[in-house]
Amino acid sequence: MCEGARTDVGPLSRFLDVAARLGFGAWAVGGSGWGAAEQESERAAAIRHAVERGVTFFDTAPTYGAGESERLLGRVLKGERERVAIATKVGPRDDPRASLEDSLRRLETDYVDLVQLHETLERWEWQLEKLHALQLAGKALAVGLCNATHLQLERALAIAPLATYQAAYNLFDRDVAERTLPLCRERGLAFLAYRPLAAGLLTGKYAAPPQFADGDHRRQIYWFKGKEFERRRDVIERLRPIAQREGISLIALALGWLRSQPGVSMILVGARSRAQVNEAFVPDPRPLIPDTCCAIDAIVADAFRPARATPQLGDAARTWGERERFIAARLDGTTRYEAIAAAWTDRGDQPMIAAQVKVFVDQLVEQGLADV
Ligand SMILES: NC(=O)c1ccc[n+]([C@@H]2O[C@H](COP(=O)([O-])OP(=O)(O)OC[C@H]3O[C@@H](n4cnc5c(N)ncnc54)[C@H](OP(=O)(O)O)[C@@H]3O)[C@@H](O)[C@H]2O)c1
Repeated sequence: MCEGARTDVGPLSRFLDVAARLGFGAWAVGGSGWGAAEQESERAAAIRHAVERGVTFFDTAPTYGAGESERLLGRVLKGERERVAIATKVGPRDDPRASLEDSLRRLETDYVDLVQLHETLERWEWQLEKLHALQLAGKALAVGLCNATHLQLERALAIAPLATYQAAYNLFDRDVAERTLPLCRERGLAFLAYRPLAAGLLTGKYAAPPQFADGDHRRQIYWFKGKEFERRRDVIERLRPIAQREGISLIALALGWLRSQPGVSMILVGARSRAQVNEAFVPDPRPLIPDTCCAIDAIVADAFRPARATPQLGDAARTWGERERFIAARLDGTTRYEAIAAAWTDRGDQPMIAAQVKVFVDQLVEQGLADV
């Protein structure tokens, strides 16, 4: 059994296994936010095909396609309701009861298996209490939280009997491995990993930075642009021979890496067509053997080598803001960017993620204030 694997998450237990399973991420089948939408029939076929492939967990949100993702799931999964789990979310500024009632109507069901608070903005504790009340009223079998800091997650555990925590995790973006994933393991929460393919990047299909259409949320994602795109593309090129050696696709390599990480209970993979479901929902995505994981980790670590401050940095940083000085003081050539971000977040005010450190360090390197 994987160290830290969850064996009992209440009613969700029958959908979670000892080894992480693949769940269907239903954002892209909502038909907007992901460039030109597939025909509705194709998006419905993607969901149906996921069921045929044995997928039993579907993650959606009222915001995915402004309700369209939930409507489509409701229609396609109607005859499967007892066999599948449906997880939806409540937005950080929405009224929990009204939001969930609307979701249930669109999903054509009396209950969801999991209702998650999508983000922790102001008054999030109050919202979590309301989600728990909705659970007690039978509208949701379990309550979960997304995108919180480890400090908020600790606090949430005192407010409601949380079953799950959901956050981004893939072989590039590893912030959760610092604090929240160990906390989930320690406290028996199921961890649901989203963006396992880095929103499509880890399929290996981009040779150059993609030009996403207006309205595609990936226009705002920093790894699809500039220096970060190049760095990640170079990593992907170095991963290809590993995938070839294993006799699997890059997608299966990325998902296999995640399956090998202790404490990951569910991997939410997004797919918008039947063909993508075929490739992404590998019938038995093997966890990778430790040597393969180590080879991947070494390539990623080499691409994101910790920076070392140059002698000029101390002087330059004197007039900077507190957060910039905090980062600058930790550029010792050994401290990982995830560790710097987590140490800042430990202070309990503004959270920080490694991506912010990396972007800042790139600027310092360009100005000759740090070396990698
Ligand atoms: N809680 C949260 O805040 C949060 C945030 C993000 C996501 N999520 C959940 O996590 C799920 C998964 O994350 P994600 O959808 O953002 O990212 P992802 O799973 O990393 O990437 C999915 C995208 O990769 C591309 N793709 C998938 N299979 C492919 C294939 N075989 N060939 C080529 N391209 C392929 C598709 O986009 P293109 O075809 O357009 O390239 C697809 O929409 C979401 O659907 C959602 O349920 C939750």
